[in-house]
Amino acid sequence: MLFGYDKVPLLTLPTPIQKLHAISEMTGCDCYIKRDDMTDYGMGGNKLRKLEYLLWDAQRQGATMLLTYGGAQTNHGRLTAAVAAKYGMKCAILCLDEHPDQISGNILLDRIMGAEVYIRPSDGTDEAEQNRRFGRQIIAQYEAQGERVYEIPVGGSNTVGLRGYFECGQEMKRQLDEMGLVPDVIACAAGSLGTYLGLWLGARHSGLTADVCGIAISPFGEAKERRLMEYYAQCCQEFGLPQDARREDFHIETGYVGTGYNSVDENARQAIYTMGSKEAILLDPCYTGKAFGGLLDMMRTGKIAAGSKVVFLHTGGAPALYTPKHRAAIAADLAEGVHLLPR
Ligand SMILES: Cc1ncc(COP(=O)(O)O)c(C=O)c1O
Repeated sequence: MLFGYDKVPLLTLPTPIQKLHAISEMTGCDCYIKRDDMTDYGMGGNKLRKLEYLLWDAQRQGATMLLTYGGAQTNHGRLTAAVAAKYGMKCAILCLDEHPDQISGNILLDRIMGAEVYIRPSDGTDEAEQNRRFGRQIIAQYEAQGERVYEIPVGGSNTVGLRGYFECGQEMKRQLDEMGLVPDVIACAAGSLGTYLGLWLGARHSGLTADVCGIAISPFGEAKERRLMEYYAQCCQEFGLPQDARREDFHIETGYVGTGYNSVDENARQAIYTMGSKEAILLDPCYTGKAFGGLLDMMRTGKIAAGSKVVFLHTGGAPALYTPKHRAAIAADLAEGVHLLPR
């Protein structure tokens, strides 16, 4: 029970914290990785921790179906589909996005796990409002068939889902204590902010002193700034925690976004190749590649001091390696190592 909510214990926890030997040698920092990509279902990833709490809430409300939202490559949608499949529920994912040329990556996995996927190009107006409008239509359609629909916001990032990452912060504190490790920096990708803020709160309230750094993977403008502080206030109020942090107490790196959300990004690809070729761990082009690319840059440029102890949270996402635009860019970079021999 965490702040009045229980969870459906889906996962084999704790996820491991592993030393990155080759990357430590390369960067001059003492680098570790927390493997939330290794969570149990649907190819794993951070959203499963949020979904443990969201599913409990859905079950107690008597829901028979989960509806969530995201872009066409949403990992969160895939893991919502996974949880629905495992617990015998229906699932629908509403993607506000351009129609893809090919069904690939996460959508393929959504369909394998039985979810219905609705892809609707944005009409250019406020996306939250469009989701509300089209979401209501989808809910009405399924309610007419007798379903009870539980809605999960983009990224599972509400106060219920955030509990999963508060708990991850506590889990990390216990593991790091056992390892005798006091990290200077804990870093993760920051999108809809539930992971970052949950980890920040969980770390702080379990006595971790590290700088918890979120590396933004999409533009961090005025709306995101407002969202961060509003979300923080909501959590403090609901959880009964003191609301004593100011904006400068949060560390969001905003310089590694590239040209936008899910953009084809050279720095992200280089980070993916570094992690893959040195540590045999696969990052993704949309979130963890960008974030780890940012972290490598921070170590290279001295923003993170040499010798620091750094833990990177791997939040999953590798199916996006197979999204056509990313796959094409990777293939173009690496094709010369594929040797086509004569028969
Ligand atoms: C692989 C991966 N990493 C990181 C994130 C960011 O998590 P959050 O949306 O909680 O900020 C996401 C969100 O979809 C994700 O899919």
